[in-house]
Amino acid sequence: MHSSNFDAILSQVRDFSTKAENIEALQQFTVSLIAEKLPHYNWVGFYMLDPADPAMLVLGPFCGAATPHVRIQVTQGICGAAVAQEQTVVVDDVTSDPRYLACSLETRSEIVVPIRAGGKVVGEIDIDSHARAAFQPEDRSFLEECAALIGAYIERTEAKG
Ligand code: SME
Repeated sequence: MHSSNFDAILSQVRDFSTKAENIEALQQFTVSLIAEKLPHYNWVGFYMLDPADPAMLVLGPFCGAATPHVRIQVTQGICGAAVAQEQTVVVDDVTSDPRYLACSLETRSEIVVPIRAGGKVVGEIDIDSHARAAFQPEDRSFLEECAALIGAYIERTEAKG
């Protein structure tokens, strides 16, 4: 249903990734574009592993309501689970998942997609929706492609030192 939107977003993120000044600029561009084009993605943000403490996720650029979860241990939340398992986690109904850390009372479903660079998980994209089971296999593929573009940017910029 949203595949043309997905393709258009990926193409714009890919293009911006060739000229972004830094990772934060690329992340800000990505969350703004996704939130604008996919309004049922009600909260869109990045959490990145703290280089000084690889057991801690730190909130990066996001669009949506302010969250109390600015730092999340990798042993906590859906966010922590995606890093610990090194794979995408989809929760169709957060009210029945004991791992869930609440951001907004309106949130019903969530997807968290790891970002890899140099063969390691370095962070993740986190999306919340007010709709139950909002994230289907095509959403997952789209977000995994976004994560791959971000990971490739990190690899390129780190290689340059
Ligand atoms: N729900 C997440 C916490 C982050 S907020 O949704 C922005 C979790 O369970 O890890």
